[in-house]
Amino acid sequence: MRPAYGLKSIAGRLALAIAAAGTLAACQPFNAPMDTLSTNSDLGKWIYSLFLQITIWDSIVMVIVIVALLLAIFVFSTREGEPGEPSEHESDLMLELAWTVGPALILMFITIPTIHTIIKTQPSKWPADTLTVQVRAHQWWWEFDYPGFKIQTADELHLPEYQVVHLELLSEDIIHSFWVPALGGKRDVIPGQINQITLIPNTTGEFYGQCAEFCGLSHANMRFRVVVDTPDGFKRWVAAQQAPPAEPTSPAAIAGEKIFKDAPCAICHQIRGISGFSLQYKYGFRGPDLTHFASRGTLAGSIFPNTPENVALWIQDPDKVKPGAEMPTLGLRGTDLQDLVAYLESLK
Ligand code: CUA
Repeated sequence: MRPAYGLKSIAGRLALAIAAAGTLAACQPFNAPMDTLSTNSDLGKWIYSLFLQITIWDSIVMVIVIVALLLAIFVFSTREGEPGEPSEHESDLMLELAWTVGPALILMFITIPTIHTIIKTQPSKWPADTLTVQVRAHQWWWEFDYPGFKIQTADELHLPEYQVVHLELLSEDIIHSFWVPALGGKRDVIPGQINQITLIPNTTGEFYGQCAEFCGLSHANMRFRVVVDTPDGFKRWVAAQQAPPAEPTSPAAIAGEKIFKDAPCAICHQIRGISGFSLQYKYGFRGPDLTHFASRGTLAGSIFPNTPENVALWIQDPDKVKPGAEMPTLGLRGTDLQDLVAYLESLK
C-alpha cells in the first residue's frame, strides 16, 4: 500500500516543526547569558529592531514560497490519468512584473533600515560627559583603562547606567573581537587601528563578554564581564579603584607582599605603589593590573571565580588551566604560595 503523503500530513509536520522551533526559541531568554536578542543598551535596541524588521520580511517571503510550493505540488500538479499538458502561455506580463518588482521592493525594505542602523550606531561625535574607556585586547585577556579616572582593570568592565560610553578598541598583539551580546554589537580589535563602539547601557546587571575572533590556543578562554551599575554605584566603584592598594594586615599577607616584590610577578603586574615599574607594552601593561585584584569577581580571562583555591591553582600552573598563557610557572609551593594568595586576596 502506498503511504499517504497528503496535504494534511505535510501541513501537520510543518506545524509540528514550527511549534518545536517556537518552543526552543522561547527557551532563549531564560538563563542565556550570550543571548543577542536583548536590549540592555540603545545599541542593542537598534540592532534588535533591525533584526525584527528583517525577520518579518524573511517570514513573508518564506510563507509565499511555501504556499506556492504546496499549491504546485498538491493543487496544480497533474493527477494520474489526467491529460497532463502544461499551459503554453509564452509569457505573462503581470507575473513577470510581480516577481521582479516584489523582490526588489523587499530588498529595498531591508537595505534602507540596515544602512540607517549602521550610520546611527557609528556616531563620530559624543556629548561632553561621555565616559571613554580604552579597551586593550591581549592574548588572552582584556585590559580596561579609564584615562579620565587613571584606573585600570582586567577582564571586568564597569559602566554606569544611562551614560554615553565610548569604547576605544586597541589590540596589543593580533586580531581579537570585542563582543558583549547582551549590550549589542560586535567589533574587531585590530593591531595598529582604533575601532570604536558607542552605547548607552540601560539595565544594571552583569553581562558576559567573549572574544569572538579566533586568536590562538586560549581564544575560548578570553572572556570578560561587564558590570553595569547605577550612577552612584559606579562612582563608589571608581573611588574604590582610585584608592591605593590595601595594606596587608595578616602575617600571611605581609609575607605574601614580600614574595610578590621579590618574585618575577612585579615585572609584569602593576600594583600601584608596590610595582609601578611594570614592563609596559606599546599601549598597556603586560599582565593585568592587580592593585584591586580582590575586588574582581573572576580571574584569568574570567574563566574562574576569584577564590583563594582558584588563584593558587592558577599561580601553580597557569598553562595547565589556560593553555598558552603568557604567565610563567614560578615554582611557588606550600607556604610561599599560600602567602602570595593571601596577599593577592587582601587587595580589595
Ligand atoms: Cu582574542 Cu579570540
